[in-house]
Amino acid sequence: MNLPFTEPFKIKMVENIYRSTKEQRQNWLRDASYNLFNLRSEQVFIDLLTDSGTGAMSDKQWSAMMLGDESYAGASSYYKLKEAIRDITGFDFFLPTHQGRAAENVLFSVLVKEGDLVPGNSHFDTTKGHIEFRKAKAVDCTIDEASNTTVWHPFKGNVDLVKLEDVLINNPAEKISCIIITITNNSAGGQPVSMSNLRETGKLARKYGVKFIIDSARFAENAYFIKMREKGYADKDIRDIAREMFSYADGMTMSSKKDAIVNMGGFIGFRDEELFRQASTYNIIYEGFITYGGMSGRDMNALAQGLYEGTEFSFLESRINQVAYLGSKMKESGVPILEPTGGHAIFIDAKKFLPEIPKEEFPAQTLANEIYIEGGIRGVEIGALMADRDPVTRENRFPDLEMVRLAIPRRVYTNNHMDYVAAAVNNVFERRSNINRGVRIVWEAPIMRHFTIILEVAK
Ligand code: F0G
Repeated sequence: MNLPFTEPFKIKMVENIYRSTKEQRQNWLRDASYNLFNLRSEQVFIDLLTDSGTGAMSDKQWSAMMLGDESYAGASSYYKLKEAIRDITGFDFFLPTHQGRAAENVLFSVLVKEGDLVPGNSHFDTTKGHIEFRKAKAVDCTIDEASNTTVWHPFKGNVDLVKLEDVLINNPAEKISCIIITITNNSAGGQPVSMSNLRETGKLARKYGVKFIIDSARFAENAYFIKMREKGYADKDIRDIAREMFSYADGMTMSSKKDAIVNMGGFIGFRDEELFRQASTYNIIYEGFITYGGMSGRDMNALAQGLYEGTEFSFLESRINQVAYLGSKMKESGVPILEPTGGHAIFIDAKKFLPEIPKEEFPAQTLANEIYIEGGIRGVEIGALMADRDPVTRENRFPDLEMVRLAIPRRVYTNNHMDYVAAAVNNVFERRSNINRGVRIVWEAPIMRHFTIILEVAK
């Protein structure tokens, strides 16, 4: 018998979590204005809101923290991180930032100006937020297959090279801030981007004289999928694959809270010293001096270590298989999920799950709330609320995909937890015909509204 894979770690420290009753959860949800971001963490039993900053650090990361150098300038922790980044990504220049969106803020302060276009594959919400805040436009050129939740494609996160070239042909290079490819493609379901797609994007960027930036939050998971699915990569090491992915780009933004398994942190990687210098000024204004940029020395040490742990094949194998395990359990009960399952989360197709709830009553938010009431499980809406209003017409945007994301923190939950989640979602699925009222908006912020929105049950 072949021995199955297992987690390549054992658990040294535990944190208790608390079950509650349905009635308690109904009250808490009402008090939270039907917005799961407003819940207190103790009101949640299994927290799948995000895989960002919620991972469990290793003993090696915790011990590296004790050796943090908190010098304002030139800390050894900075140089240690610089070495790790150069080794894993190949970028010679880097700026630390306090998290991924801060990296976007600093880099876009140099690259993005009013009226610009930023083509890419389903920009993440903070990325789009930073672009639109600067009165520029994010142009989504993701392949069409990405909006079909059941069609199988090995690299459903890919950018459509024809759509991308169309934007590049029809606009002068100085109007294009940069091309941004997000790996894995979070908004389209944690779906990977192939190496050939990255290579071709790099070629187009050079042909049209525009910069190519990789939003790299889940780059290691992307490298894992390339190894497993793309011809010619089966025998390559994850880190070699990662270096090749980055070799096609001019720079990267990183939310280290994902694949580098730290609770806080980010950075920008640059190939070009001049761009690094320009961005340094903004880093100093917004984040901190260029050798700490919003991070403490101890955090930079933990990040340097986490970059290596997050790119270990055995870790990635157990992680991505845990996601697939939850997906297969849900499929067994007929729950409509996005397939193939991606790297960090299960995405439930809310339009198919709750076909009676009109889009104006936000089916994915309605479903996320029901899953919370059922089992104390917190997911997140990835749909019309997150898509915000069109900045010009102020009409609601209704994206093709209206989903609930259940994101799995790294090294935190066991497959027993996954069984519990699958059972709770199954219970909601069985009573879905009784769910006939969605939610309506009482108050919303002008941008990135889903974080703070106030909702009520639709009349
Ligand atoms: N890019 C991607 C692809 C992301 O998924 C995120 C964050 C960011 C950038 C911003 O990074 O949070 O460190 O500022 N995603 C989290 C999520 C919040 O839940 O998917 P950050």
